[in-house]
Amino acid sequence: MASPPIPIESPSTVLVTGGAGYIGSVVAAELLAAGHEVVVVDDLSTGHADAVPAGAIFVRCGIADVGPVLDEHPVDAVIHFAARSLVAESVRDPARYWHNNVAGTLALLEAMRARAVNRIVFSSSAATYGEAAESPIPETAPPRPVSAYGASKLAVELALSDYARAYGIAAVSLRYFNVAGALHRADASYGERHATETHLIPLALRAAAGQAPELALYGTDYPTSDGTCIRDYVHVVDLADAHLRALPAAQPGLHHIVNVGSGSGYSVREVIDAVRSVTGRALPVREQPRRDGDPAHLVAAIDTAANLLRWHPQRDLTRMVTDAWEFHTRTA
Ligand code: UFG
Repeated sequence: MASPPIPIESPSTVLVTGGAGYIGSVVAAELLAAGHEVVVVDDLSTGHADAVPAGAIFVRCGIADVGPVLDEHPVDAVIHFAARSLVAESVRDPARYWHNNVAGTLALLEAMRARAVNRIVFSSSAATYGEAAESPIPETAPPRPVSAYGASKLAVELALSDYARAYGIAAVSLRYFNVAGALHRADASYGERHATETHLIPLALRAAAGQAPELALYGTDYPTSDGTCIRDYVHVVDLADAHLRALPAAQPGLHHIVNVGSGSGYSVREVIDAVRSVTGRALPVREQPRRDGDPAHLVAAIDTAANLLRWHPQRDLTRMVTDAWEFHTRTA
């Protein structure tokens, strides 16, 4: 069993940027369930207003315009998700990533600083590593992002280190690996519904549901056990738990960087098998050449999450696919 999160001054009020998106909405729902007040800002460029959980205050705006929201709704801490997050798009159009993800976050940090909001948990990514030489990857591995998306996440991390050291803010960056699954509550479900979907599990579920003719399998000649890429999948509810633990773990003057994955790798073929087994459907697969920029092997070392956050993943790949499939069938 996981130990409970360290309690913070309760009730706290938390600003969740990007709280109409997939992970942001799950975290907002879990914060409310834990007794916190939640203010969501989201420009709805990719999020959905109906994903913001009932009980949260919702203001539609971009992160660059968050100052007046903080004046009207003072908060104790920020969890910052709002960002563009399509790796391929970031390679084609890096300006959008530097502007939204980096300049936007600097504006958010200034709005926080002007109002003495000193605690932030930042949504970072395994994309900061690029092709890591080690596996599992520790947070000390040299960051060598291969996309503007990864570079933008790394740039914000660097800013947070400086802001922590110079201004005394308390910061935690969580480097997510591959997030999957959904949160199901009696009154609502929260899951992945991107207009532009690039992720393996939701695309495999679409093909299993007959909404797409087949799943493209990108690359069967990688130097891995079955020739397909190995990834580390983490359930979105476990990931949300890491955020709730990171809030009180953040220490003034320090910026902690923490991997959040399961610590185990699954090949694309193993994920496809899990989707077939959970859905009981045929899942037609077409083998394709490699997708540009996909590293062969990405698995997290998760000792820091265990030591700093007392966090341990609770939900396995079957549970991720089961919860994602339930969400898919409810929302299709
Ligand atoms: N894949 C397929 N077919 C698809 C989609 C994906 O075979 O239709 C494969 C990919 O080639 C990859 C694996 O499934 O080997 C996982 O791909 P995803 O797109 O689901 O996830 P990524 O590993 O590419 O992306 C994740 C995060 C990103 C992050 C990136 C860092 O979702 O936010 O890791 O490498 F930037």
